[in-house]
Amino acid sequence: MLSKKIKSITPSFTISISAKVAALKSEGKEIIDLSIGEPDFMTPDAGKFAAKDAIDRNKTKYDMVPGLVPLREEIVKKLSLENQVNYQPSEIVVSSGAKNAITNALIATLDPSDEVIIPAPYWTSYPEMVKLCHGVPKIVQTSEENDFKLTVKQLDKAVTDKTKIVLINNPSNPTGAVYTRSELEPLVDYCSKHNLLILADEIYERICYDQPFVSIPSISQRAKEITILVNGFSKSAAMTGWRLGYTASNSEISKAISTLQGHLVSHPSTIAQWAGYGALKDGKEEMSQMVSIYKSRRDQLIPILNNLNNVSYVTPQGAFYLFINISAYKQYYTDSSSFSVAFSNQLLEEQQVAVVPGIAFGNDDYIRISYATKIEYVIEGLNRIQKLLATISK
Ligand SMILES: Cc1ncc(COP(=O)(O)O)c(C=O)c1O
Repeated sequence: MLSKKIKSITPSFTISISAKVAALKSEGKEIIDLSIGEPDFMTPDAGKFAAKDAIDRNKTKYDMVPGLVPLREEIVKKLSLENQVNYQPSEIVVSSGAKNAITNALIATLDPSDEVIIPAPYWTSYPEMVKLCHGVPKIVQTSEENDFKLTVKQLDKAVTDKTKIVLINNPSNPTGAVYTRSELEPLVDYCSKHNLLILADEIYERICYDQPFVSIPSISQRAKEITILVNGFSKSAAMTGWRLGYTASNSEISKAISTLQGHLVSHPSTIAQWAGYGALKDGKEEMSQMVSIYKSRRDQLIPILNNLNNVSYVTPQGAFYLFINISAYKQYYTDSSSFSVAFSNQLLEEQQVAVVPGIAFGNDDYIRISYATKIEYVIEGLNRIQKLLATISK
């Protein structure tokens, strides 16, 4: 009864890990859960206030498909002030989370068998989203030596006459890599010359620690024309459950996205949109505090990571994940079809620590841990990982 398309989709690893963790917790086990990509902060007060006010003032009817005008105006202001790129409100489409923004962008631009270049390690949903939107994911492995960043050379090797989109997630989930301007410029140049669109997922853009963040469309007028920018409120505003994201793109693409959104979902909940409006307008201070806390956690974790036996990593420059190379231990798992899954299962069963196996991000040599949780948990989690590593190699 099911379509071929749905049968080609892999269920989400992260969701299956959450189910396992919930089952173990229900048996009374205490689990250190480092698998979740969700901030441990709450919605900024300004967002909560604006949402409550919207309910009290009955702002609960259908509204404009691309999103509330005041919210889109606030997004335009934010993009101009923080990211140095100027859009019109008509070029913004507010969606139900960045996930919905990405799928909107893919549906609006892909024809069957168009290829989308996805640098690995990648956020786990990208290849499945591309397949669901009739496209073909083309995975390009980046290397730890190059801080997991895509180069023009790698891109050029992967591009074919079917390539339509290059997806760049900056800062990256799972690696925390952040591209500099001089790393982005040649990629933009290449895409421009080869008539490729860039899908720039910048949802972690505010969570950037060591260098100023450079938004791809801010690089040049041409960069802006060929880029579909994706951003949202889940990560930097800790507003995951409100389901609010957006695209900013040239007017041809934004109109198309708006048309399809009009048929599929109309628009995200108006209450959620007012919450986003409040958070953007008056919640900056709270959001900056969250980023300082993530940075301080990262800085505390690095020396502990350095003490783990025979692992390597690239210091994350943004987002809130550590992507740890455990490939030195692969030799002890020759029976398993996926080393990172077997290792993660053993870690959960023997040390009660939940992490995400690297295979979920397209590289089986790694595990991902999230530090969007209490620092004491993460430190305890790393200590237990060290215990497991010691027993494996005995
Ligand atoms: C890179 C990346 N893009 C998009 C999303 C989806 O965000 P949202 O909750 O806004 O749908 C996530 C969530 O984990 C993510 O890590």
